[in-house]
This record gives sequence, structure tokens and C-alpha cells, in this order.
Amino acid sequence: MNDRVLRVQDLSVHFKVSEGGFFNSQAHVLKAVNGVSFDLSAGETLGVVGETGCGKSTLARAILGLIKPNRGRVLWLGEELGKLDEETLRQKRKDLQIVFQDPLAALNPRMTVRDIIAEPLWTFYPKIARVQVDERVRGVMKMVGLLPNQVNRYPHEFSGGQCQRIGIARALVLNPKLVVCDEPVSALDVSIQAQIINLLKDLQTKLGLSLVFIAHDLSVVRHISDRVMVMYLGCCMEISARANLYKRPLHPYTNALIKAVPVPDPKLARVDADTGLTGDMPSPLSPPPGCVFHSRCPQSVKRCKLEVPALRRMENGDWVACHRAEELDLTIGD
Ligand SMILES: Nc1ncnc2c1ncn2[C@@H]1O[C@H](COP(=O)(O)OP(=O)(O)O)[C@@H](O)[C@H]1O
Ligand code: SF4
Ligand SMILES: [Mg+2]
Repeated sequence: MNDRVLRVQDLSVHFKVSEGGFFNSQAHVLKAVNGVSFDLSAGETLGVVGETGCGKSTLARAILGLIKPNRGRVLWLGEELGKLDEETLRQKRKDLQIVFQDPLAALNPRMTVRDIIAEPLWTFYPKIARVQVDERVRGVMKMVGLLPNQVNRYPHEFSGGQCQRIGIARALVLNPKLVVCDEPVSALDVSIQAQIINLLKDLQTKLGLSLVFIAHDLSVVRHISDRVMVMYLGCCMEISARANLYKRPLHPYTNALIKAVPVPDPKLARVDADTGLTGDMPSPLSPPPGCVFHSRCPQSVKRCKLEVPALRRMENGDWVACHRAEELDLTIGD
């Protein structure tokens, strides 16, 4: 998988926010995404994991060119999205689609399933014949496990899982090359989550899609990801091949997240009795100096408070931002 379609280089998205009351408000910079870099190959799935507020959705929007970065760039098939004029960027969006977290909220309640799924077709091909639209809509409905005879129904007539299938059908209707799934199963019952993950995995294989699959829990992305990126306070902590990450993570934060993953076998209960994490997540408005994770890291040493660890490539091809990656052995026991 050397055929890189997406390159994200040193991407930063900062928001200006004000704190305090009307008379004493103070302007701050919130670094929602801070210097994130990664590549994605054709047909590859990258899982992106991190706690709420760590910048996953902002990263998703920046990848799709929906939000302008303050620094860095996003290259899609070698072209920098930030340098394209509006019309060229709009055309590129055919290739780049998104699936949202809350399926019902993402669907217009006054539109039928046909119109919801067909809308991107009308937008990009205004002269397309109705019969062609119907054929394509029914085709993608079948592809995602919906009955084509439900085409005239409204979102509220469907379950959460079915609504997410409608969202996926809409994302696929233009035959995209990349789909960013922003916590597509977080709002669904646990029993439905696996069905949607399996559906996305099947579609990814069948259609050769590249996927960025965002979740706040490492267990959710485990079976779908080729590689996994772990984020903390807007920064990338680690990007590792799946087989390496779950067995021997490189970063203490990944290690803590793995220990916090619920285990399906009740006899094993949860293994998060001691994740080793200390304290709460700091405010993104005042991230700690040096390594952003140092205030909670059980492995922190003096250097960690002073120097920002660069994201660097290890011998096996995985990436980590930790001063002590070589000396720590974070192997996960059975
Ligand atoms: N438009 C915005 N203006 C100001 N702050 C924002 C905006 N969007 C997101 N944020 C802040 O940026 C940080 C990252 O948010 P987000 O990308 O939604 O995280 P996640 O998806 O990982 O939960 C949060 O602290 C959030 O409050
Ligand atoms: S650089 Fe230091 S504080 Fe940061 S993760 Fe590594 S050991 Fe922990
Ligand atoms: Mg989010």
C-alpha cells in the first residue's frame, strides 16, 4: 500500500476564543489541532482515537477542506487543497465524503430517503435524469443493507442503525475515494455498532475506499484499522500498525487507553483498574509546556516538562512523539 492518496503535513487549526464576562473578556488561542502529520494510502483505513475535545472532528473538517488550517497543508492526490480555487475544491469534494456521528441529526427530517441520498447527485450533476438518480439511489441503498422499496420514507421511520446506513449511502452515492467517518457508531447501541463497523469494512474492501475512522475508544477501531493514530490535546502521540499498537504501544498515553478498553469477557472484567494516568485532562486553552501529556504521564521525567517531543519514525515504520520511546517497554500482557 504505497499508493499515497492523502498527505497531511504539520496541520494546525487554532480558534480564537474569548473567556470571561462582557466587560473583562480575554482573547485566547485554542489549539484544536496542533502540528498533525500523516499519510493515507489507497484502500487503507486509519483509525483516529482520542478523548472528547482532543481535536478529532476539527482534524476531519480540515482534511476535507471544510475549514482552513492556520499552518500546514493537506494534499489530496498531490494537490494542496488550500491552494485550490473554490470551484476546483468543490469538484474535488466528489472524492472526499464524510459520515457524521449522530445519524438522525445529520439527516433532514423533511426529506425522503431518496432525496437525502440523491442530494449530492443533484448538486454535482444538476442535469442528471430522474431515472438515473433512482437507479443509483436504489443501488447504494442495497449496498448498505437498506431495502430499496423504503425509498419514499422519512428518517424518523428508521432506527438509529438504519439512519446511519442512510448517511453512509449518501456519502457513497458519488463514488468517493476517501470517506472520513467521524465517530459513526458512538451514538448507536453497542449491539448495532459491530454491524455498522462490519458494513464499513466490507464496503471499504469492495470499493477500494480509503477510510479515516474516528472514535474515542481504541476497541472500536481495532478490527477495521490498518494503522491507528492516537491524539491528545490536538497533537499526534503515535501512529502505529494495528498489530504493533495493541500488543506493544510506543506511547504511554496509548498504553493507558488500551488498559482502559472494556473487555467483552465478563470474567476478565475491565482491565482499567489502573491505567496509570494521573489527574484530569488539562484545558486545551492552557496545554502543559514540553510534552502535552507530561502532567498525566506515569513515565514523565524532567526533560518532558521542558522539551516538546517531535513526532519521529521508529525503525519498524511506526511513529511516536515521546522522548523515552526506545527505553520504555509498554508490552500489553495477555
Ligand atoms: N468553532 C470552534 N470555535 C472554538 N473552539 C472550537 C471550535 N470547534 C472546536 N473547538 C474546540 O476545539 C477542541 C477540539 O474540538 P473537536 O475537534 O470537536 O474535538 P473532538 O472531536 O475530539 O471531540 C475543543 O476544545 C473544542 O471546544
Ligand atoms: S515525552 Fe515524557 S511525558 Fe511525554 S509521553 Fe514520553 S515519557 Fe511521558
Ligand atoms: Mg468530535
